[in-house]
Amino acid sequence: MSNSNECQRFLHWALPRLGLRREGYKKVRRQVCKRIQARIGELHLSGFSAYRDYIEDNPGEWNTLDAFTRITISRFFRDYLSWQVLGDEVLPVLATKAHKEQRALRCWSAGCASGEEAYSLALVWHHRMSEKVPRQRIEIIATDIDEHMLQRAARACYTGGCIKDVPLPVKKRSFRKREGLYCLDRRICDMVSFLRQDIRHAMPEGPFDLVFCKNLVGMYFKREKAVELFREITGRLTVGGIILTGKHEPFPLEDLPHMTTYSRGLCMYIKSIPNS
Ligand SMILES: C[S@@+](CC[C@H](N)C(=O)[O-])C[C@H]1O[C@@H](n2cnc3c(N)ncnc32)[C@H](O)[C@@H]1O
Repeated sequence: MSNSNECQRFLHWALPRLGLRREGYKKVRRQVCKRIQARIGELHLSGFSAYRDYIEDNPGEWNTLDAFTRITISRFFRDYLSWQVLGDEVLPVLATKAHKEQRALRCWSAGCASGEEAYSLALVWHHRMSEKVPRQRIEIIATDIDEHMLQRAARACYTGGCIKDVPLPVKKRSFRKREGLYCLDRRICDMVSFLRQDIRHAMPEGPFDLVFCKNLVGMYFKREKAVELFREITGRLTVGGIILTGKHEPFPLEDLPHMTTYSRGLCMYIKSIPNS
């Protein structure tokens, strides 16, 4: 059996045991397989089936394997159209509501990778909203399980590919090139607070007006876990608050009776009634 088939078989066995959704890994399996293969080498094992035996004898290895399954792909202004709609209509409405209620607008990027999504929001606020609503405060919290990703977020220097969708005037004003990377203006960085959290065990305190939960819960967690987590996440939304999910992941709307679709194409959902 080829290595790739062996790995596929191994993942077929291991992913559900980690509470993860096999379909989510179809396109990114090679990345996960490479990490596992390196681990097999490190342990001097003969292959995937020996690694399976090793895990069964050493249950602590499940945590190591769990870390290998993390997919960390992201970029600034991913799903560009949704950022336009956020800037044109969603943020103005949410900001007006927060302003009337004399409180900060609160936003959360869950599974934030190296900060691309949270910083995109900070950029939209800085470049499009701050003049319109000069006294309105915004709080942006970004969480991720991976310490390495959070360190990269703190450095906030990115490759050209990662910022290719940033509008040119924004790129010119808010990034500086240093040693081949594009580094974000510290004033924009300071708008975001990062926390290391495993979303399965901890979430930031709500309520939130806007939550990004893209390419994590619906994509990689098994349905029952995803439903449980989306209930908790949307439970943290204000009435009228919005959650954005990824384009290629299921969102269990039928299990979230307090939520309705805001834009199906843009994977945006709105909290229409309070949780009972
Ligand atoms: C594919 S990236 C998505 C980044 C961004 N949300 C986007 O859509 O561009 C998924 C991120 O979720 C993080 N992650 C994976 N499992 C997690 C968990 N249990 N709790 C919190 N973050 C997790 C990974 O470290 C990774 O940075």
